[in-house]
Amino acid sequence: MNTPIYTKLMQLKNEERVPFHMPGHKRRGNGVFKEIENLDITEITDYDNLHHPEGIIRESMDRLRLIYGTRESWYLVNGSTVGILAAISACCEQGDGIMIARNCHKSVYNAIRLLHLEAHYFYPDLSKRYDLIENIGDRQIKEIQDILENNKKIRAMVLPSPTYEGVVMDIARLKKVTEKYNVILIVDEAHGAHFPFHEYFPKSAIDCGGDIVIQSTHKTLPAMTQTALLHLCTDKITPEAISDMLSVYESSSPSYILMASAEYSVAFMNENGDEVQGYVDNLQIFRKKCEQLKFIHLIQKEDLCCLDYDRSKLVFSAELSGWNGITLFERLFYKYHIELEMADQCNCIAMTSVCDSAEMYDRLFEALKEIDREIAAQGIKEKNKRREIIADGFLVPEKLMESWQCIGMEKEWISVKDAEGRIAGGYVTLYPPGSPLLVPGEKIVKETVEKLRYYIYNGYNVLGLSGDNMPVLK
Ligand SMILES: Cc1ncc(COP(=O)(O)O)c(C=O)c1O
Repeated sequence: MNTPIYTKLMQLKNEERVPFHMPGHKRRGNGVFKEIENLDITEITDYDNLHHPEGIIRESMDRLRLIYGTRESWYLVNGSTVGILAAISACCEQGDGIMIARNCHKSVYNAIRLLHLEAHYFYPDLSKRYDLIENIGDRQIKEIQDILENNKKIRAMVLPSPTYEGVVMDIARLKKVTEKYNVILIVDEAHGAHFPFHEYFPKSAIDCGGDIVIQSTHKTLPAMTQTALLHLCTDKITPEAISDMLSVYESSSPSYILMASAEYSVAFMNENGDEVQGYVDNLQIFRKKCEQLKFIHLIQKEDLCCLDYDRSKLVFSAELSGWNGITLFERLFYKYHIELEMADQCNCIAMTSVCDSAEMYDRLFEALKEIDREIAAQGIKEKNKRREIIADGFLVPEKLMESWQCIGMEKEWISVKDAEGRIAGGYVTLYPPGSPLLVPGEKIVKETVEKLRYYIYNGYNVLGLSGDNMPVLK
């Protein structure tokens, strides 16, 4: 495979170098780390430098550029998180405006905080039936246009696509809007690193007009945790501006193991068409078999009003039976030792990759079949109530001040039931999926209190609360 970093790293053990340099283990460790330490180096002679690539890393990133068809691409060793921080920082200066989908990852909110940006939100549609984010359509486009028309300080727009659940947004349509207002379109494609490698998967934002696209190789490619890629696809921002910001946020001692792993995962997908085809075949067979299930439903594109859907994400809804995602998740884990990625009150999600074997899909299907029969034997329980409370969409709180303006202000913890009329003093986030219900500086209204009390009463995982108390500004 064409892997300059990985190949060179593999040669190291044949060289007799005496390491009077970092890291301190000197490749002489013991136990489980020994093998790994043999490959764990910093910028030693001939091994290049991620922050100033001229050798093997340059060669490898040039290949990334060709594979993805980008202007420039970088390996990241601190996840998409660092890519998002660097991308926003390269596009926006302190005090600029930014337009973001409310369901953005927390790194986007952290960038707003660090750069003191003026935040403008748009709220995607939610599927009433499956409690998933499903679309950015006419309503949002109109709202976005109105906001951009009236806020000339907005420099960038950020949104996740695909979502955690695999829903792909219409990037080409958003691009037309951002282009008109000279706004840079940053697409958080953390969950879509596999898109470019088979037509069964949706088109990558790289090919739909994303100006900067960030992908976590560790989420869906055979790569180690924390590895990711940043792709620059526009000439509105210089590669130097991105490199400059990456050097601010990213370690000055980036791990070669992680770089080699990211490189290897891309080369593997690019050069092993048969393996990728095998992966797609497994997914197709599995999806077909799941049509037999009567109570557990595997979500398909047709269930959602969306532009496209990533069929590598297996989102199961047991809503028809009254089971919720968490009960299904737990049954799969405790009885069948099958561990999915996440669950909430509606759905549970299995993440797949090219590394899954046909046997793994068989085991999952057989377990689901048994659970489906078990549900049938039990009879239908009371329907899942969650939809009733959340299906009316996102809360759209009024912003009274920017989140970063609340830092250092006096706060107090009060009972959620007494919070109406107060201003949020911290993030309150429903996890999963992790989109903030409240951002610091937002007004707490009756509807917010009602929803929060519902979540607390029903045992949802609401981050930012302590029991049923929440932080508000004094
Ligand atoms: C939509 C989305 N964006 C960004 C990230 C951050 O990615 P990473 O863990 O690679 O830093 C995540 C992490 O789960 C995510 O779900």
